[in-house]
Amino acid sequence: MSKVQVIFGGARVNPGRGFDNAGALQEIFPTLGFYGVHQIDTARVYGQSERILGKAKAPSRFLIDTTMPGGLQPGSLARVREQLETSLSEMQTVKVNTMLCGHVNPNITWMGANRVHKQHQVNVCYIHAPDRGFPVENALWSLNQCRKADLFSRINGYVMPEVYEGNYNVFARQQEEELIPRLRRLGISFYAYSPISGSFLAKSVSQILGGKSGRFVPGSDYWNMYVNHTNVAALKDWGDIAAEDLYSSAELAYRWTLFNSALKGEHGDRMIIGSHGVPQLVQTLQWLQRGPLDSVTCEKIDRLWDTIKNEVQAPLDVAHG
Ligand SMILES: NC(=O)c1ccc[n+]([C@@H]2O[C@H](COP(=O)([O-])OP(=O)(O)OC[C@H]3O[C@@H](n4cnc5c(N)ncnc54)[C@H](OP(=O)(O)O)[C@@H]3O)[C@@H](O)[C@H]2O)c1
Repeated sequence: MSKVQVIFGGARVNPGRGFDNAGALQEIFPTLGFYGVHQIDTARVYGQSERILGKAKAPSRFLIDTTMPGGLQPGSLARVREQLETSLSEMQTVKVNTMLCGHVNPNITWMGANRVHKQHQVNVCYIHAPDRGFPVENALWSLNQCRKADLFSRINGYVMPEVYEGNYNVFARQQEEELIPRLRRLGISFYAYSPISGSFLAKSVSQILGGKSGRFVPGSDYWNMYVNHTNVAALKDWGDIAAEDLYSSAELAYRWTLFNSALKGEHGDRMIIGSHGVPQLVQTLQWLQRGPLDSVTCEKIDRLWDTIKNEVQAPLDVAHG
């Protein structure tokens, strides 16, 4: 059984967000390498993230997956090639080097340390959100222009997409019902973001209801997705499970998603982690060395999901409310 690999999430690679500049980012590269993290996730809409990744020469050491805005900027799919070229120039203030040159065809990309990363390409190019007003044929045509120009290696467009990135954690498991089985049938890997629900699962009820906790400010997307009567009651039970079984609640959530959830290494699935700084990141990476949770704890987690899943407001993702 192959392991689910971990991806470092680049949303907080931004001034004042935890990884402020290229120097701060470069400091964590050896740590990421030590813990087997070889891939970074970013997006056009993440402020200076792509630019800082470029300045830190991240593309010479990591596979970079980036995301075009799509429905976050309605109509922008018509300019997706221009947007992707902007991303590439932001990230390639220095030349992108081959990650590890082997005997393989340079057009082929490989995962992990053995992966060959072609110059000037990104690894995965995502569309951030559906643009329901934009004709799908035109979107596919635009994406195919990028593909033909060889601007990314894992593909969207006229051939089958290879990766779906989605929200997935202990409180957001609807993906197991319909989406993941469908992805399996189509041979598409699932990359799970917000594995501790952007920190909801690391907080106490009073921290969340205090409304000053990072992303959980009243009215924010994450507030609207997670903060309701059922989830707040379940968050209290979640804290109790962690305390009974002597885990920190963040550790419990990360380890469940990596080891005990529907993610499977053999399908190429990944877990994308976030962090507000180096000590927190190191702590998370150390927890992930500890392996799967025991079956008694997993049963409690399943029972907790049973209390959430049939609620109308069970969390799915930001695009679907
Ligand atoms: N495609 C999309 O639409 C999309 C959407 C969301 C995310 N993403 C990607 O996925 C990445 C990860 O998402 P995420 O940030 O939501 O993931 P996450 O891992 O669920 O949440 C990260 C947050 O949890 C808290 N945390 C992290 N480590 C902790 C620890 N050891 N102990 C206690 N708390 C801890 C921190 O919040 P505090 O600062 O509050 O401590 C941190 O900012 C993003 O950077 C981005 O690349 C993509």
